[in-house]
Amino acid sequence: MELNPQGKQMADESMVRNLDAQARAIWPQERPLFCRYTLPDEPYILDAGCGTGEISLRLAELFPRARVLGVDIIDGHLELARSRCQHLAPRLSFERQSVYELDEAAQTFDLTVCRHVLHSIPYPDRVLAELVRVTRPGGYLHLIPEDYGMIHFERRTPDPRELWQEVPARFGARTQTDLFIGRNTYGILAAMNLQEITVDYVIVDTVRVPREIFAAILEAWCDGYAGAIDEMLPSGGPTARAYFNQMVSNIRDPHGYAVWMVPVVSARVPQEGLNLP
Ligand SMILES: C[S@@+](CC[C@H](N)C(=O)[O-])C[C@H]1O[C@@H](n2cnc3c(N)ncnc32)[C@H](O)[C@@H]1O
Repeated sequence: MELNPQGKQMADESMVRNLDAQARAIWPQERPLFCRYTLPDEPYILDAGCGTGEISLRLAELFPRARVLGVDIIDGHLELARSRCQHLAPRLSFERQSVYELDEAAQTFDLTVCRHVLHSIPYPDRVLAELVRVTRPGGYLHLIPEDYGMIHFERRTPDPRELWQEVPARFGARTQTDLFIGRNTYGILAAMNLQEITVDYVIVDTVRVPREIFAAILEAWCDGYAGAIDEMLPSGGPTARAYFNQMVSNIRDPHGYAVWMVPVVSARVPQEGLNLP
C-alpha cells in the first residue's frame, strides 16, 4: 500500500504556495481555537506533517515559552522550514519523521497538531492512534481533517459542482484515502474514548478571506492536481483546468460568493480508559 499517494503533489512547488495561502486564509480564525487549550507554562507541541512549517512558526510565536517540533517526510519542505525559522531555533525544530511511526516516547506532547494531512494518506485511524500515543494524558489533539464535500461555488458553466461531486470519491477510491474524513473524525476519536471532542469550522469564503488569498489556494490546487484530476473526469467534458478557472473567476468576481468550510477537530486525551486500536 502506497502510504503517501499524494507525495508528488505534496512535494511540488505549487504546494509551497498553497500552504502559504492556506495559512494566511485559515490562521486568523484558527488562532483563537488554539488559545482555548489549558496548557502548561512551557508546553511541548508537535506539528505532525508540518510541511513548510507555516503553522509550526505561528505556534512558536503564539506560545513564546513553548518548544515546538515539526515533523514531515519531505526533505525540501523541512529545509525551507528550518531556514525560515532559524531565529527561533532550537526552541522550534524540524525533523524527518513519519506520522505512522514517530520516534517520540509515549505521552510526550501537551498539544499535538495535525493539519491538512489525514485526508491525503491511507489508514488515518492508525495515524490518529499514533498521535494519541505521543500526547500526554490531559493533553490535546488539534486536527484539520479536510472534507471535500464542504466546498461550494456558484453554479456557472462549466459548473464546479460536477468536479466536486465526482472527483474526491474517485480520487479516494484510487488512493485508498478518505477525502471526506472531516465528517468521520469525530467518530474515530470517540471510539478511542477521547474526551471533550469539539468540531469547529474555519470558514474560508469570499466575505471573510481576501479574494486574492482564496484564489491563490485554488490556483495552486489546479497547478498541482489538474493532471491527476483529468484522469478522473469523463473524456470529452470540461478539463480540470476549465473547472478551476471557473472557480477562480467566481472568487475574483466582486459580486461572486464561494465557500470552503474547513473542519477543526480537537479532543483531550483521558487520564485513563484510553481505547487504542
Ligand atoms: C497539505 S501539507 C500540510 C502541511 C502543514 N500541516 C500545514 O498545515 O501547513 C501535508 C503534509 O503532510 C506530509 N505528510 C504526508 N505523509 C506523511 C507522513 N507519513 N509523515 C509525516 N508527514 C507526512 C506531507 O509531506 C505534507 O508536507
